[in-house]
Amino acid sequence: MTHASPSAAPRLSADALLRLEREQVTDAQLNRYADLVYRRTGIRLSPQKKMLLTNRLRRRLRETNIDCFDKYFDLLTRLQADNPEWDAFLQEITTHETYLFRDEPHWNWFRQVFLPQIAAAGQRRERPKTLRIWSAACSTGDEATTIACCVAACLPNANTWNVRIIGTDIGIDAVAEAKRATFSERSMKLVPDDYRKRFFTELTTERRWKAKPQLTDMQSFRRHNLLDPPGEEPFDLVFLKNVLIYFDGPSKQSVMKHIRAAMKPGGMLVAGAAEGVGEFVKGLERLDTWLFRNPPIV
Ligand SMILES: C[S@@+](CC[C@H](N)C(=O)[O-])C[C@H]1O[C@@H](n2cnc3c(N)ncnc32)[C@H](O)[C@@H]1O
Repeated sequence: MTHASPSAAPRLSADALLRLEREQVTDAQLNRYADLVYRRTGIRLSPQKKMLLTNRLRRRLRETNIDCFDKYFDLLTRLQADNPEWDAFLQEITTHETYLFRDEPHWNWFRQVFLPQIAAAGQRRERPKTLRIWSAACSTGDEATTIACCVAACLPNANTWNVRIIGTDIGIDAVAEAKRATFSERSMKLVPDDYRKRFFTELTTERRWKAKPQLTDMQSFRRHNLLDPPGEEPFDLVFLKNVLIYFDGPSKQSVMKHIRAAMKPGGMLVAGAAEGVGEFVKGLERLDTWLFRNPPIV
């Protein structure tokens, strides 16, 4: 395994580029790539993805000056998982689609049920005034920023609480973008007007919105593969949305083992409606199709 960047190979000749444009990924190559992606990420690349893989690989080959799919495959197998080339490759084949306040029912529950209950328990001194929330597979941080908006708006005396919102994603670029905390108009489309005014600054020249320190001070972002334990103190609440839809049964099972271990007793899990975690949540109580609770210790 090497940490080194892909070699600075000489630029591909015009002939090699032309050959590359005509070459298609074969079934055998698709299987080898699919197997490699699966082992590194848990994501299943279906046979229908052959055309997509061909097109996306061509881009990486041109960037790295590698003239065939097999050589690029060999390169990936030699590189450590945290090598930027792995990230660039995964960036091509994964979807980072996300936006603030995605899936309204989850945020209604968070604002109207979860936060008031936590606040009341804190007020009665039945729990410490600490709150740890994990946005797992956070992409560019939109979900973690939605969490921060809701906490700032709906947790009474939020400044007397120690709130930590940890966002993690396998993509280095996604994590770097999350740390920048700026969002396009498209990402902001569901943000209520009063939240926009209170919690964001408009960057008019970039036509983007920057989250204020009131939100970002609660957050931290880092790279993490869901197939590994998060190595974090347990959480009161975990958001796991729109990621396991690309995983098969065994990899969902591995992820859910880590998620379950990362939940405090009494901790909650919000899963995407299409996540298909139902059969892998052994030991958790199902409160809704998308809401699960780790039983409290009695
Ligand atoms: C569609 S986005 C979901 C973002 C956000 N959770 C939401 O619902 O809006 C899926 C994210 O999962 C990440 N991802 C895919 N496989 C992963 C893995 N094995 N570990 C951690 N993140 C992963 C991708 O990099 C991508 O950013």
